[in-house]
Amino acid sequence: MKIKKGKRESTDLVDLKNFIDYNEKLEASNDTFQKLMFIYKMAIKEVNTKIEIFKDEFKMFYNYDLVDHVNTRIKAPKSIIQKMTKKECKLTYKDMIENINDIAGIRIVCPLQKDIYTIKNLLQNVPGIKTIKEKDYITKPKESGYSAYHIILGVPVMLSSQLIYVKLEIQIRTMAMDFWSSLEHKMKYKPQSNEPTKKQAKEWVSCAKVINKLDEKMMLLNET
Ligand code: GTP
Ligand code: MG
Repeated sequence: MKIKKGKRESTDLVDLKNFIDYNEKLEASNDTFQKLMFIYKMAIKEVNTKIEIFKDEFKMFYNYDLVDHVNTRIKAPKSIIQKMTKKECKLTYKDMIENINDIAGIRIVCPLQKDIYTIKNLLQNVPGIKTIKEKDYITKPKESGYSAYHIILGVPVMLSSQLIYVKLEIQIRTMAMDFWSSLEHKMKYKPQSNEPTKKQAKEWVSCAKVINKLDEKMMLLNET
């Protein structure tokens, strides 16, 4: 892994994949993997600090709770490899960096749907941060009923020798949808559980619809 020490030679953004041996085989236990994960962690740190500042600013200046809470995570090596295998990627670092967008993940939970748009716009306007991809499941929930705003951001991480550009997945959802999603996710991935029956699956969708209605009502109530 070619991470250089010392003075930064350029302020140009360098893509993460330029730092590694292109076709080196991915090994979760080796040094390259640990160093790459470190860079993803730093991207989380960068963005998490921005979110904290916006949250505290809204409280301090407007006495408004824009964000309820934030969770961050680095994808487990086992899950990275599982996803790469599913996507039929070669098990190289190049393929990992190019194809797996959610190695670094931040979930922002907001009280109301309108807060989701506020925080997303604030983050997308941070100088240096780029939007690579976005999905609005608030206006158009998924078939499961899942509703959230997802963005893949390109985040600059400044190391001593270079500015590296890292992909990070942001999921923004309401407190009510967070409650549904956590339970639905647990139910889906419960070990040794049977596939939900058609009737059960329908019930989950119907619960999500109730929650989407509730979120809209809460927002209107908040405006009166
Ligand atoms: P994947 O990361 O492979 O799922 O890629 P994708 O592009 O299809 O992702 P998408 O942005 O639609 O969703 C990514 C993540 O959102 C998932 O890993 C979950 O954390 C969350 N998510 C999406 N749909 C659902 C859902 O129906 N239920 C729950 N609980 N979570 C969901
Ligand atoms: Mg994911």
